[in-house]
Amino acid sequence: MIASEAAPLIKVGGLADVVGALPKELAALGHEVRVVCPLYAGIKKTEKWIPYDTPLTVNVGESDQQCRIWETRLPGSAVEVYFIEFNEFYDRPEVYGNSGKGPADEDRRFVFLSRAALNLCYYLGWMPDVIHCHDWPTALVPVFLNTNDFYEPLGRAASVLTIHNLQHQGMFPFSSIEYANLPRSVYRPDCLESMGSVNFLKGGIYNATKITTVSPEYAREILEPANGCGLHHILKFRAADLIGEINGIDTDIWNPESDPLLPANFSCRDTKGKDACKAVLQKELKLEGKPAVPLFGMVSRLYHQKGLDLLAEAIPGIMETKDVQIALLGTGDKEIEKKFLELAERYAGRVGVHIGFSDELAHRVYAGSDYFTMPSRFEPCGLSQMYAMRYGAPPVARSTGGLIDTIDGAIDGDYSAATGIMFADAESADLGLAMGSAADTYIEKPEEYNRMRLNGMKKDFSWKKPAATYENIYRWAVEVRKQAHHLRAY
Ligand code: ADP
Ligand code: GLC
Repeated sequence: MIASEAAPLIKVGGLADVVGALPKELAALGHEVRVVCPLYAGIKKTEKWIPYDTPLTVNVGESDQQCRIWETRLPGSAVEVYFIEFNEFYDRPEVYGNSGKGPADEDRRFVFLSRAALNLCYYLGWMPDVIHCHDWPTALVPVFLNTNDFYEPLGRAASVLTIHNLQHQGMFPFSSIEYANLPRSVYRPDCLESMGSVNFLKGGIYNATKITTVSPEYAREILEPANGCGLHHILKFRAADLIGEINGIDTDIWNPESDPLLPANFSCRDTKGKDACKAVLQKELKLEGKPAVPLFGMVSRLYHQKGLDLLAEAIPGIMETKDVQIALLGTGDKEIEKKFLELAERYAGRVGVHIGFSDELAHRVYAGSDYFTMPSRFEPCGLSQMYAMRYGAPPVARSTGGLIDTIDGAIDGDYSAATGIMFADAESADLGLAMGSAADTYIEKPEEYNRMRLNGMKKDFSWKKPAATYENIYRWAVEVRKQAHHLRAY
């Protein structure tokens, strides 16, 4: 498994959660899974890390480069993780980008990761049956396997590319192909070329043995021009090999019954502890200590995708008409951050905002909230809503992508089978109405609210089923890869 993030070691968003959890579940099924990730400045080594004395040679650009390999385990498991130490590219605080400073080297950073991860297999003498890569940063792996490595031992490995977010594709100048030492022939409109640029994700989609994305609904959406981010043609071309499977969540880490980050634990059998969690969250986010006021939480990257600008627009109207509280933890777009900081000032005690990234506070927001707001414009899967449901905070979410597949929305005021409240359009007025009706339900129909809360807490969001699906996808990919070799050999 090759990826640019792996929780809990380094995390920007849900990709890290997936890479930190799926390998553990696959290992439990009896597979040998190894993970490769860059050693960014933010990662803290422990005494359990083992450095390799012999450097790994990476054949990129005009002359070979050398990097150092560190071996450790995914915390709480026997899954081996290899970190690539190459300071020129990874010794900076950001996982992506470089805060506009220094060289624009994003293409080279992730060409390097993909090439280094493949070379690591030769270096370790370990030939996996399947190489699973994630999003554009590692999408060149299937391209390497079909070109430079095809007749090498690793060329027998099947590749699976998971698309976590089609919006980010990795578009770069032609020089990135030269840096990767890939044949110029890959720069074709059906492979890596896209509108005069090199498109890493497109190359991965064309070359991967199998392609997955993180919900069945998103798998359908991305075949349409409106949601295909310019890649719907190639996705349609590969549609027979594209599978949508919902992500699971790590139910050991995200367990309200034993979560050590909470001031009190609780479960669907006894939700009492949630009151203490709400009180602590209100204190932490400087909200008035009112137990009966419905509290809407959010934990999010603050970008256009997540639609939280719609919430910022809706807040004044909501504040005037309903007695509710808002608790937001997020970071991202400076404009959106500023809007929320202004709202926190204007509605002091009712809107609480923490700008930044804090895993610990995230757990407490899920646990302390009565509802979880997720007005995403698009959402390939979404993990936050699953954490929220497990922690007894029914989502108020837009019906899109994985939110449709994971939340059972109340229908015409019937909450008997609901786990959340859904609204159709990415408009602040629609969001405001949905939050208003959620607040009314909380205050006026406590029994129905509780039913909805418990329905969500009881749902099985574990990796059990998705991991079994991935196991099938890997088997299928291995068969197809064998045939590819057979066909080329004759
Ligand atoms: P995405 O990957 O698009 O950001 P997901 O819902 O799949 O959306 O996953 C987001 C993950 O990142 C969740 O684990 C969420 O708790 C976490 N997260 C997002 N923002 C923050 C933050 N500011 N602090 C801590 N965790 C965050
Ligand atoms: C992406 C998507 C999110 C998904 C996550 C993990 O970041 O935006 O919807 O849950 O990847 O697959």
